[in-house]
Formats: sequence, structure tokens, C-alpha cells
Amino acid sequence: PAESPTAMRRVLPEDMVERGRCPFDPPPGLAARRGAGAVQPLPLLNGARSWLVTGFDEARSVLADQRFSSDRMRYRDATQLQPGEVAEAAPPTGAAQPREDGMFVFMDPPEHTRLRRLLTGQFTVRRMKALESRITEIAVEHVEAMRAAGTEADLVPAYALPLPSLVICEMLGVDYADRAEFQENTATSLNVTSSDEERAIAGAALYEFIQRLVADKRAHPADDMLSGLVHDADPPLTDAQVVDMALVLLGAGHETTANMLGLGTFALLENPDQLAALRADPGLIDAAVEELLRYLSIIQLGVTRVATEDVTLGGVDIPAGSTVVLATPEANRDPRSWAEPDRLDLRRARTPHLAFGHGVHQCLGQQLARIEMRVGFAELFGRLPGLRLAVPAEEVPLRNDMLIFGVHSLPVTWA
Ligand code: HEM
Repeated sequence: PAESPTAMRRVLPEDMVERGRCPFDPPPGLAARRGAGAVQPLPLLNGARSWLVTGFDEARSVLADQRFSSDRMRYRDATQLQPGEVAEAAPPTGAAQPREDGMFVFMDPPEHTRLRRLLTGQFTVRRMKALESRITEIAVEHVEAMRAAGTEADLVPAYALPLPSLVICEMLGVDYADRAEFQENTATSLNVTSSDEERAIAGAALYEFIQRLVADKRAHPADDMLSGLVHDADPPLTDAQVVDMALVLLGAGHETTANMLGLGTFALLENPDQLAALRADPGLIDAAVEELLRYLSIIQLGVTRVATEDVTLGGVDIPAGSTVVLATPEANRDPRSWAEPDRLDLRRARTPHLAFGHGVHQCLGQQLARIEMRVGFAELFGRLPGLRLAVPAEEVPLRNDMLIFGVHSLPVTWA
């Protein structure tokens, strides 16, 4: 589909996507809109009409409401409109052809339901247990390699990126030797500073990579999710559908956890009282992961929907055809849901947040992501008791140019 989260990034005002002085706080343009209501009009740079949802309850009700669609093939969103053009009201259900692709993150029930179920059927308890011990091995190996190589490192390439990358490659049965090619192409296809041509080339290479992988699983089934998708589905999936589903998984599971590990480590190092509390009580790790997810909200404005009929939300009328942009960093700091929402507080009572979304599209990999973060932080801080930044905090390069927020690099030392 023409629509992509990157396209959304391009039509949003700069101050709503670029974080300000504090890299952990929502972008200043979002924070400035706090007083303007939980649901507010949002003029986009291409002149299209859209709505920004900053309230927690309102954002959650959008995600639970089937009148808001994720289907970018049937319902054009604001990124696909020309200046002055208004999206038409949604076509009647059944008017469009059934979808034959596998981009289930951009589908609605019931098409979404079938593909999602096939995948959840592959996330078995047995596989998750096996992955958990592999995740620990991978984390330990990488921290020990950092220690063996000296007293400083860039945490992103040395730890934050390889950990989730290796895990998802193992899960899908991707040969780790191919990971560099995969990572490079993913980064280029997501980077808004790459040219259209660079993005197209990287995207095509990524597609071919997965095509080869799926063909290989069809010929040589193994005990991995991709083989399961290729061989277990009834009625069977086409290879093209499996390729799409694998691309969704790879894209969704790669950059997200990596950036939580990088930015999460940065946030803990900058909040020494919180890090000390975690070191003193390792039992706080689950709460720490949830609080970091809420506090950092790395998917800033990537969750959007299109209204398929007129909807009144938080007292505001949203006409059919409008794009709704969820401001997750603001919703996750809604003062109606949390006391002192701008403070990182690992001892907070656990309350639901929206970092993994909500409703039928709620993050499919969240249990896996939680294990990766729990193990990832525990091994890092446990094995490197003197861990600290190797440069002043202001010099850490931020991923303001990327769809998923985080750090490009994090120079650390443990001398
Ligand atoms: C969906 C966040 C890690 C796979 C989502 C959504 C969010 C999210 C907000 C909802 C998107 C929407 O409603 O439009 C995160 C964060 C992660 C993470 C913050 C890391 C900390 C992972 C991992 C995997 C994964 C490790 C895979 C192994 C998926 C998939 C979907 C999804 C497949 C689409 C589900 C659907 O459409 O039914 N994620 N995710 N995610 N996530 Fe994650």
C-alpha cells in the first residue's frame, strides 16, 4: 500500500515528531497541545484534515472501536490526499475485493482475524520457553563480548540491536549470517532521510530476501514459525501472503525492542535513583519494563486509524473519512490516569498503558518483547555494575529522523 508510517511522519509538523531538550519527554509540539483537549483537530502539512487524540481513555476507545479502520487499501488516509482534497466517506462493506495480501496490520476483522490467529497459533508456550533460554544466552554472550573487548562500547550495535534481531531471526528461522543484509535494508527503508530511490531499492532487497526464505521453508520445513505458517494453514496461505506476514513480524519486532533497550538504558542512567532502586531490588524488573514502556512511548505517532462513519469521540464530532492520529506519548502521560505522569517511577502501581496498543491489533509480540527487555536489562546492569555514559547526555544522537524513536548510538563505559 502507498500509505506507510513513514508517509505519516512526513505530513506531521516537525515539532510534533522531534523531541526537545529531554529525549524522554514527548515532542514539544505534542506537549504544547496538552491544554487543547483530549481530541483536537490536527492540520497536516499536506492540507489534509485529521484529528489528534491525546487522552488515554479516548485513545483506548478508538483502538477498541471497529468504526475506526486499519485497512489502508480500502480507506485512504490523510497521507494519500492532495492539498484541499477531502477523503470520501467509507465505501460500503463488501464493495471492495477481498484482500489477497498478508499485511494483516493494515487489515480489519474478519480478514485480519484469520491471519492473526494463524500467527498466534505459532507463538506456543513451548516455543516461548525455548526462546527465553536462547534470549538469556544471547544477552550473556553479548555483554561478555563487550567486557572482553575493553571498557567502553557503543551499546546500540554491541547489544541493543543484535539481541532482538537474533531473537526474531531464530524465531522465523532466518540464518544469522544474513542478518547484516537484513538490518541494513530495514534501516534504509525506514529512514526518512533516505531518498525515495534508496528506500525502494532497500525495500525490494528485503522483499527478495524473505521470498528466498519462504521458498526455502516450503522445500525444507524446520521447527520455526515461518515453516509453521507455510505448512499448517488450512486453507493454505500463498507464498506472497507468508512473505508479507514475515515482513510485518520482522519489521515490528526488530527496531522496536532494540530502541527500548537503547533508550531505556539511557533513561535509567540519567535517573540514577531509579537505577539504584532496581539494582537494590532485582524483583522490580517487571515493573521497570512496564514503566519504561509508558514513560518512553517510542512509537510516537505511528498508530493511526480512519473513521469509516461519523463518530463522536470525547464530545468531538469526527466525520467519516477522517484520519485519527493517536499521540501515544501524551496518552501514556494523561494526568487522569497517572499521578506525576512526567516522572519515571519504577515503583508505580501497575496500570495499563498504550505502548503496545490495544484492541484487535494489540502487539502480537508483547510477551516476547517483555522477555527480551527483562533479560536484556537484567544481564546488562547485573554484569556491568559500573555502567555509565561515556559522553555528555546532550551528545547522544537521537533518532528524530526515524519513525520509531530511540538513540542512534549510546557510548557507554564501565571502567
Ligand atoms: C503491533 C508496539 C515488539 C510484533 C504493535 C502495535 C504497537 C506495538 C503499538 C499496535 C499497532 C496498531 O494498532 O496499529 C511494540 C513495542 C515493542 C514491540 C513498543 C517493543 C518494545 C514487538 C515484537 C514483535 C512484534 C518483538 C514480534 C516478535 C507485532 C505485530 C503487530 C504489532 C505482528 C501487529 C499485530 C496486528 O496487527 O494484529 N506493536 N511492539 N512487536 N507488533 Fe509490536
